[in-house]
Amino acid sequence: MKHLIDPMDLTVQEIDQLLELGDDIIAHKEKYQEVCKHKQLATLFFEPSTRTRLSFESAMLALGGDVLGFSSADSSSSSKGESVSDTVRVVSGYADIIAMRHPKEGAPFLASRNLEIPVINAGDGGHNHPTQTLTDLMTIHREKGRLHDLTIGLCGDLKFGRTVHSLIKAMSRYENIHFVMISPEELRLPEYILKDVFEKKGISYKEVRTMEEVMPELDILYMTRVQKERFFNEADYIRLKDSFILDTDKLKSAREDLCIMHPLPRVNEIATKVDEDPRACYFKQARYGKYIRMALIMTLLGLSA
Ligand code: CP
Repeated sequence: MKHLIDPMDLTVQEIDQLLELGDDIIAHKEKYQEVCKHKQLATLFFEPSTRTRLSFESAMLALGGDVLGFSSADSSSSSKGESVSDTVRVVSGYADIIAMRHPKEGAPFLASRNLEIPVINAGDGGHNHPTQTLTDLMTIHREKGRLHDLTIGLCGDLKFGRTVHSLIKAMSRYENIHFVMISPEELRLPEYILKDVFEKKGISYKEVRTMEEVMPELDILYMTRVQKERFFNEADYIRLKDSFILDTDKLKSAREDLCIMHPLPRVNEIATKVDEDPRACYFKQARYGKYIRMALIMTLLGLSA
């Protein structure tokens, strides 16, 4: 059984096939309207979500399938003490594929063990978010036309940001990628990623404390939110929350073909005025999420148009 728990579960070749399928879905939506007829997707979300849950549901509906699930732990029997393993085991009798988000790192992996249907990790704590990574790769592929020869600035909360951790792992497999980490000292990328990914693979990276000093170098600026829910101490959150705010002034020195990305939700780290800039790709990015999830559902279920 093939699950998607970590972005590295997919080979570069499998990612290429998903991107190709995503492109075809965008070009020929009508071809895919009944591919998942009589199939059910269960969305088990133990943590809040707008984009991931609704794009999964929209993806399955666009493929002609059905959806069931819950959107918070409170509305499931986990509030009565049921284990995640028991929950997914039961749901595997009601659905053909599961997309699951959980605040605990590793919960989707544990849930997938010995299960007879595919489990997709829709975000586990500060760990991984592989379908956001697929969404990001789809965005880069469509907006930049390549996944190699890129300088990527990652800005904001690089310590807790699971989307950043997953994207770094995925992009580190492509040729000639340079990473620029833009964060306050307290929200630096964890040491294990610096060592295990960058240093072990000999990937070029640098760490800076302002976005202005690197703006002209960037092909992609990947903004992130400082995540209140990951802090143990509110005072630390308040001190760091406004560390990096992208506005139209800061974009003056940026390249004309810069692609500004953000997994969303945004709080205030991108001024709303930037939304009007043609380089702002984050709302398009959220739309691509639906099509790449359609491709993923089809692939994990072994279906074709
Ligand atoms: N990008 C993302 O994971 O958004 P949601 O939390 O709204 O699903």
